[in-house]
Amino acid sequence: MSGAPGRPSRVTVVEVGPRDGLQNEKSIVGAAVKADLIRRRAGAGLPVVEAGAFVSPARVPQMADTAEVLALLEPRPAVSLPVLVPNRRGLEAALEAGAREIALFVSASEGFSQRNIACSRAESLARLSDVAALARSSRVAMRGYVSCVIACPYDGPQDPAATVEMVKGLVDLGCGEISLGDTIGVGTADSVRRVIDRVARHLPRDRIAMHFHDTYGQAVANVLASLEEGIAVFDSSVAGLGGCPFAVGATGNLATEDLLFLLDGLGIETGVDLAEVVRIGTWISGQLGRANASRAGRALAAAAGGQTGSGPMAKG
Ligand code: HMG
Ligand code: MG
Repeated sequence: MSGAPGRPSRVTVVEVGPRDGLQNEKSIVGAAVKADLIRRRAGAGLPVVEAGAFVSPARVPQMADTAEVLALLEPRPAVSLPVLVPNRRGLEAALEAGAREIALFVSASEGFSQRNIACSRAESLARLSDVAALARSSRVAMRGYVSCVIACPYDGPQDPAATVEMVKGLVDLGCGEISLGDTIGVGTADSVRRVIDRVARHLPRDRIAMHFHDTYGQAVANVLASLEEGIAVFDSSVAGLGGCPFAVGATGNLATEDLLFLLDGLGIETGVDLAEVVRIGTWISGQLGRANASRAGRALAAAAGGQTGSGPMAKG
């Protein structure tokens, strides 16, 4: 079923900074700054910008104003603007706000599933069947996330079989692309290759995306391993913002600037303007009062004579 591995000539970068990034920042930026961030990311050539989440505001207060953010984005930039949806209530709110794409999220591990969405892995898929049915009848595109594909902060190392099970569940619900999350950033090249190899026996590689957090500084190496496994979609976050509030110790996502620097060096096309991405990373780091966590972003901003953001590094 899976195609032959081989480095792709073109990669799609999914910008998750406005959601995965901002959801774990201590300083909460207002809806206007979020909308500005999304618009500027779209303007830099990023084809997909995750715009927020319709989750419980008690659990993730940083995402409570997603409807307002979407309202500020009229007229909508001509890019995909998916939002995270955990249940039927979230989908109804997303539809009301005019979302045309959603992301469903589950975990390969039981421990993270319980902490993140307060139910078991099996219950999460059952809960989402109702959500997916409404999404399909509303003609809303669905992306799927599986978290903790390498290891779980509560349960430890994960067997790829658990990931495969959840991938199949999301595909059965109608998700097109499935993003495999190394939620706590502990993966190394071989563990990443193993999980891709296992999932690719059930899902074509062009429907697999990789979602790395950079806790141990392995994200760029893991992208290279994934490229060599034929993966061509990567999630990343401007200035390496964020983390996950329910994954203790996890730091920010792979920085979009670091990802683009790697891909540019490999001659892989993305259609994204790296210099503009660096300017946006400098700007949003300043808005948050934190250092820019992207090594490439800091170096390129310094080379361009710009600021690199100020303040202490945010902890995951
Ligand atoms: P629950 O705790 O089971 O309880 O929530 P509930 O369903 O009874 O709801 C609790 C409260 O939330 C109630 O309010 C509900 O009304 C409200 P109260 O009565 O206490 O005032 N509520 C909602 N409010 C707004 N929108 C909604 C909604 N649903 C319920 N849609 C639930 C279950 C799943 C809703 C909750 O646990 C939740 O929102 N979890 C989301 C956590 C989250 O957003 N995590 C981060 C995203 S996942 C991630 O970052 C990983 C990823 O990046 C990939 C990777 O790195 O691996 C994607
Ligand atoms: Mg994440």
